[in-house]
Amino acid sequence: MTQKIIILAGDGIGPEVMRETMRVITTAQNIFNVKFDIHHHLIGGASYDAHGEPLTDDVIEACKTANAILLGAVGGPKWADVPYDKRPEAGLLKIRKSLNLFANLRPALLFDPLLNASSLKPDYVRGLDIMIVRELTGGVYFGEPRGIFELENGERKGVNTQIYITSEIHRVGRVAFETARARYKKLCSVDKANVMESGKLWREEITKLSADYPDVELTHMYADNCAMQLLRTPTQFDVIVTDNLFGDILSDEASMLTGSLGMLPSASLSYAGKPSLFEPIHGSAPDIAGQNSANPMAAILSFAMACDLALNQPEIAQKIRSSINYVLSHNMRTKDIAETNSIVLGTNEINTEIIKAMEMK
Ligand code: IPM
Ligand code: MG
Repeated sequence: MTQKIIILAGDGIGPEVMRETMRVITTAQNIFNVKFDIHHHLIGGASYDAHGEPLTDDVIEACKTANAILLGAVGGPKWADVPYDKRPEAGLLKIRKSLNLFANLRPALLFDPLLNASSLKPDYVRGLDIMIVRELTGGVYFGEPRGIFELENGERKGVNTQIYITSEIHRVGRVAFETARARYKKLCSVDKANVMESGKLWREEITKLSADYPDVELTHMYADNCAMQLLRTPTQFDVIVTDNLFGDILSDEASMLTGSLGMLPSASLSYAGKPSLFEPIHGSAPDIAGQNSANPMAAILSFAMACDLALNQPEIAQKIRSSINYVLSHNMRTKDIAETNSIVLGTNEINTEIIKAMEMK
């Protein structure tokens, strides 16, 4: 059966990096003699401009029929003044919630040729291979009550609520244990159990789950310590599992260990057999949008993750990763990962090199 891919390019550099991803998909279809059924829809500011909503119900329904959804990025200054619940980012949160994409896998993998592009000295990051499993549909991102309220004394009060229930912790926890089991069998659970009851519950429930995974070594760490350890000895980590907010922050931090935010893909998974979504962890980067200078690799690597995790095409995934490695090892770079002697190429031009590498025997 033909596998269905939905592309939500979004805003800013989103359409640019997705255009390049489309070229990679076309190349992969030719080389591997497969055919995907590809559809494009709007999300974020682009959808707001067309429909007054950052994500329409029609698009959600379409996404429910996909095998994989590839998303670019959303947001930008153009929509700074739209109502809060209609901002582009609300579209992203809505698709995560509507499709139950509770487990967000964010690999921080260092490509060897980028050893010197890392924010840390080479000795600290050589061999770095971390997988952050971020809870994506709960916690403070969605907890009620929330809002900005007027107090009687004229002050204003901003409220958000961190909530986790056991089933939410268990389902993401199991994905994390399974992920660790398939890798180096070490899982570090990150919380603020010393300050937050939701963190205490998180720690207790993850600990309970560990009885089912005796082959995985479980440790716990406070989020502040984890932020520090990621800079001190990042190679100590295999899989990290954490809540929505800490996962957002720690994955941005981890990305800089690999050279650039522009290198990191992600996969957002639901229950087995349900559609999953793949997106670069970078944002819409309005400052460089339209300049042909964005790094398309995170988006292209997100398609590779889709090939591994949703489309059952591991050879395509492998081909993409080795082609990117080839281009990097020949010192071809986008601006964000350029070193003194690099050949700096634009978004489109570097992808032409990736595609050439894919087409080589
Ligand atoms: C991410 C982004 C989003 C988040 C924003 C754009 C809403 O930072 O995917 O990491 O906070 O989850
Ligand atoms: Mg983020």
